[in-house]
Amino acid sequence: MLKKLPSVLASLPLADLRLFDSIGSTNDEALAWAAEGARDFSLVVADEQTTGRGRAGRKWVTPQGTALAFSLILRPAPAEADSSTLFTGLTALVLVDALKKRGLKPQIKWPNDILLNRKKVAGILVESVWTGDALDTVVLGMGVNVLAGSNPPDDALLFPATNLETELGRSLKRAELLRDILSALVGWRPKMSTGEVVKAWEENLSFRGEQVQVTRGDEEPLTGRVMGLEADGSLRLLINDKIVTVQFGEIHLRPAV
Ligand code: BTN
Repeated sequence: MLKKLPSVLASLPLADLRLFDSIGSTNDEALAWAAEGARDFSLVVADEQTTGRGRAGRKWVTPQGTALAFSLILRPAPAEADSSTLFTGLTALVLVDALKKRGLKPQIKWPNDILLNRKKVAGILVESVWTGDALDTVVLGMGVNVLAGSNPPDDALLFPATNLETELGRSLKRAELLRDILSALVGWRPKMSTGEVVKAWEENLSFRGEQVQVTRGDEEPLTGRVMGLEADGSLRLLINDKIVTVQFGEIHLRPAV
């Protein structure tokens, strides 16, 4: 995949590209590169991650040659910085677009896990660097399970997992998937401040109208019906006839049993 990437991605406005056969974490590399002055739309891609990171300090496994693991560096414009809470939905949305293009029916488990047939096929880790009040850098990290070998063993999972080849019933090219994800990002990025990103994020939410349980750190879990999103991407839950808003953080959402 790596050898073909520069030509497959040639039509995209990438500032720079770093490719690795194996790396600790593409997000770590992107954050270090950003600190050295990487430009907007610089990309890090790896064929294997040995210390990949997930949300809430969890590990993310990327075995060699089986998955798509990349991190994109953005240097947000001031208007984008005002909508900084939407980067997480933006990232989910561009993967949804690329999967729909392949005939799949992805959904977003709030805030940004991507599900196919209610199983997780991809995870997203958005990390921001602030200088005082100014948003300096956003790193969009995405891991997509492509081949069957990309799934960790079931007992290592908090949520059932799947991969694209199993869901599609055929093989697909990781480089082309990455091209379509980035191309969708180029299209959606200018719509962050128009309300369109949050609307599309909401339209693609999983468990809408269903009862879910949301666990926040050590706090008592909340059980409520998924109603939609606030303008900043927070989740609206209906609990005892009242709307309760849940912000991002160390959140786990699952169907209520
Ligand atoms: C999650 O579901 O908890 C988020 C997983 C994010 C994994 C991706 S893989 C590419 C990038 N590099 C990392 O170390 N993590 C993200």
